[in-house]
Amino acid sequence: MDAEAIRKDFPVLFQQVNGYPLVYLDNGATSHRPLAVIDEVKRFEEEDNSNVHRSVHTLGQRATVLFEEARTKLATLLNAPSNGLIFTKSATESLNLVAYAWGRHHLTAGDEVLITEMEHHSNIVSWQLACKDTGAIIRAIPVDENGILDQAAYEKLLSNKTKVVAVTHVSNVLGTINPIAEMAAKAHEVGAIVVCDGAQAVPHMAVDVKALDCDFYAGTGHKMCAPTGIGFLWGRPSILENMEPFHGGGDMILDVWIDHSTYNDIPYKFEAGTPPISQAVGLGAAIDYLNHIGWDAIREHEVEITRYALDRLAALPDITVYGPKDAEIKAGLVSFNIGDIHPHDVGTILDGKGVAIRAGHHCAKPLMRKLGVGATNRASFYIYNTHSDVDALVDALESCREMFG
Ligand SMILES: Cc1ncc(COP(=O)(O)O)c(C=O)c1O
Repeated sequence: MDAEAIRKDFPVLFQQVNGYPLVYLDNGATSHRPLAVIDEVKRFEEEDNSNVHRSVHTLGQRATVLFEEARTKLATLLNAPSNGLIFTKSATESLNLVAYAWGRHHLTAGDEVLITEMEHHSNIVSWQLACKDTGAIIRAIPVDENGILDQAAYEKLLSNKTKVVAVTHVSNVLGTINPIAEMAAKAHEVGAIVVCDGAQAVPHMAVDVKALDCDFYAGTGHKMCAPTGIGFLWGRPSILENMEPFHGGGDMILDVWIDHSTYNDIPYKFEAGTPPISQAVGLGAAIDYLNHIGWDAIREHEVEITRYALDRLAALPDITVYGPKDAEIKAGLVSFNIGDIHPHDVGTILDGKGVAIRAGHHCAKPLMRKLGVGATNRASFYIYNTHSDVDALVDALESCREMFG
């Protein structure tokens, strides 16, 4: 894969920030959009814009076809039946959908929801809300000193009280790739459902929900070259069929009387109101773009650049790197601290040199507590990052260290 050639597809990368060429290493927060996506969204807005599933006129038909084509492309990407794919506005909304529409109707007092210590707040707080309403209890699978989930502890936590195992596919702080298929097999033995947060996985590796055998899989477009405002939830159709809706409104109904309604088929039962249409069209274009590069090539590139970053960072004095140190078993990101320099200071100084990284708690406060820190720095890579981006990061970190003596 030629990252230098791919860079040329991303106009936003060609600018100066604070007098330096931009080095964008905050792809874990959001990725950029290639011209293929920007142009397709613009073309849709200029030529096809209309609402979906409602209008008999030509524009309405065209918009509906493109919207449903995006769903089919996503279904193919995830090896999932398309009637189980629900469009939402974000991964956060997808996880809340499961916790609300499944959790509130299936959990009862004393039931247990297993999460992990490495979850993003989206996959923690949504379950806290469901547990508060039902009397269910949350327990967490611990992370060991290498940033790996403790599978022995997981097996001990599992019991016939366990109703949900909610686990991230890839940690947005540690980069750890969790063994979802093995964990799902164990969860199913005790009759629990498995909810997987794929926000940091789908953009970076081939994901096959059938092989993972989870029951729900959440993802988001903006981390995979699509616009913001489009997320998705895959749910096992047999479970979705028997679930109550999340929101009520237009398009999610078959018929409505004053005092009751009958609901539309899945996935439409879970897509009340006007969905994010041009965003879905953009997601379809983003999937085409990423498919064209090829998922093996994307993964190989990220492993390679992460290995280079881990090596270069390890040579810096006074550095702590969190999570696995082997690029082969993690996704394309590195979290670290340098001495006792606060990550916000590091982030600000690096920005002064045009280098964009994330500094903070990464919406993973329980994990920060476990690591014994308030915050970390995170450099996260994508298809357009090169070795020279890593070199610019290391140079900027060296001058940051000099500044703090
Ligand atoms: C692991 C993980 N889950 C969920 C989310 C939330 O995604 P969204 O921004 O689409 O709500 C993020 C975003 O940072 C994430 O990293």
